Amino acid sequence: MARFGPGFRSLDDEIRAVELPVGGRLPEWLSGVLLRNGPAKFEAGATGFSHWFDGQAMLHRFAVDGGRVHYANRYVDTPSSRAVLHEGRIRYQEFATDPCRSLFARFLTPFQRTRPANPNVNIATFGERLVALTETPLPVVFDPGTLATVGVVDYDDRIGGHVTTAHPHQDPVTGDLVNYVTHFSRRSEYRVYRQRPDGEPHRELIGRHRVEEPAYMHSFAITTRHVVLVEFPLVVNPFRLLLSGRPFIENYRWKPDRGTRFVVMDRVGGRVRSVLSGPACFAFHHINAWEDGDRLFVDLCAYEDASIIQALYLDSLRGGGAVPQATPTRFTLDIRAGTVRARPLSQESLELPRIAYRRRNGRRCRYVYGVGSHGRRTDDFLDQLVKLDVEDGSALVWREEGCYPGEPVFVAAPAGQGGSPPAQGGSPPGGGGGGGGGGSGGGGSGGGAEDDGVVLSVVLRADTASSYLLALDARTFRELARAEVPHAVPFGFHGVFVGQGRRDD
Ligand code: CO
Repeated sequence: MARFGPGFRSLDDEIRAVELPVGGRLPEWLSGVLLRNGPAKFEAGATGFSHWFDGQAMLHRFAVDGGRVHYANRYVDTPSSRAVLHEGRIRYQEFATDPCRSLFARFLTPFQRTRPANPNVNIATFGERLVALTETPLPVVFDPGTLATVGVVDYDDRIGGHVTTAHPHQDPVTGDLVNYVTHFSRRSEYRVYRQRPDGEPHRELIGRHRVEEPAYMHSFAITTRHVVLVEFPLVVNPFRLLLSGRPFIENYRWKPDRGTRFVVMDRVGGRVRSVLSGPACFAFHHINAWEDGDRLFVDLCAYEDASIIQALYLDSLRGGGAVPQATPTRFTLDIRAGTVRARPLSQESLELPRIAYRRRNGRRCRYVYGVGSHGRRTDDFLDQLVKLDVEDGSALVWREEGCYPGEPVFVAAPAGQGGSPPAQGGSPPGGGGGGGGGGSGGGGSGGGAEDDGVVLSVVLRADTASSYLLALDARTFRELARAEVPHAVPFGFHGVFVGQGRRDD
């Protein structure tokens, strides 16, 4: 068993609410709820799931106010989790695990629109509602106060589609949520859509792009004028998906000769302006993208190939198998010249990237936060937090022996806490006042600077098999405080900080 094994162990404990002991000092202005999502149940009776991405979704809640932290965690209540937790059975198809079913049942299941979701990947806000997301287009609404499951979002439109991303973007101009679905058929296509920020379960088609062999794309990019779908050469023949009887991802094939294709679509009108080809690579996560005239800059956490998917099977992870590392990479697309150039942004490895999203999404940004592996080692798991300056390639690193941090969520300090007003607009939260905290004492630019705020990460401590919530000053990357959780939080994927009734990063 690898040293970081507790991160891939099931967590049966569900805590309704407990105050956590806090060491150090959280900024007075930091008030809100960090919600995290990730797989937490990896066995069902005598059998088990194959892949990290298959585990049953659990939500974690860290409520921060006045320097105190309260914690709760709860499984998402779905037909899938009910079968696993109460019957000890795997009844539904996951990313890399299929239930034992007859050939006939297999034939019927893959394309059913109502396939229940196991929403273990991300969390988003749909208007006032919070939803847990995975790659089946069936968001699950939950109560951010109790973490109780409320129900699924049943869209009242004809967008359809079978696979989507758990990484919708907020349109940097209109505030709409933008995402795409892949529709598999004899005439497969990507359908890019928008959803108004009012939370109504209605989507409008922006545009569509026909594709013979759809690619596996876990996320995508948006700029002020464009949506960019980056088709890595991990592709599927839709008929294989329907007929093979293999778990979902096992149907995809690595075809590096295709290169990586950048589908550039107008955000308004949906016309595909260009499809550009670049070197073959694979990525789960986009960092950010922006444009300048006919040039688009698309930053990705890029792997040389798709072997990372194999490396994340639970047997491999628990046995200490090699974990390939992603390199933050900038792709410069010149639409007029039809060229794509790639260059690394740093020598540090980087995954689960986050930016000051509310201020910088779709626009040029300087700082990226993520997890990485010290010395790019492949024989350990992600063991450090990284703040990367993409302008000059420099990096700040936080690490602690035997500790494994999760996705770092940036929370902007409110205007006025650090000095000068913010460069961008944006509604300042009410209340506040008083208190020193994250922005003070740094001596740099004042409030409103891109990195004026804190970074929050849930860190696993291997030797005690327990976790803590870590708060770093985003500017200096020094520790401000930590709050000890009474159990090990299994390694998760993504989350949001919601402060003052709105998404606050
Ligand atoms: Co993701």
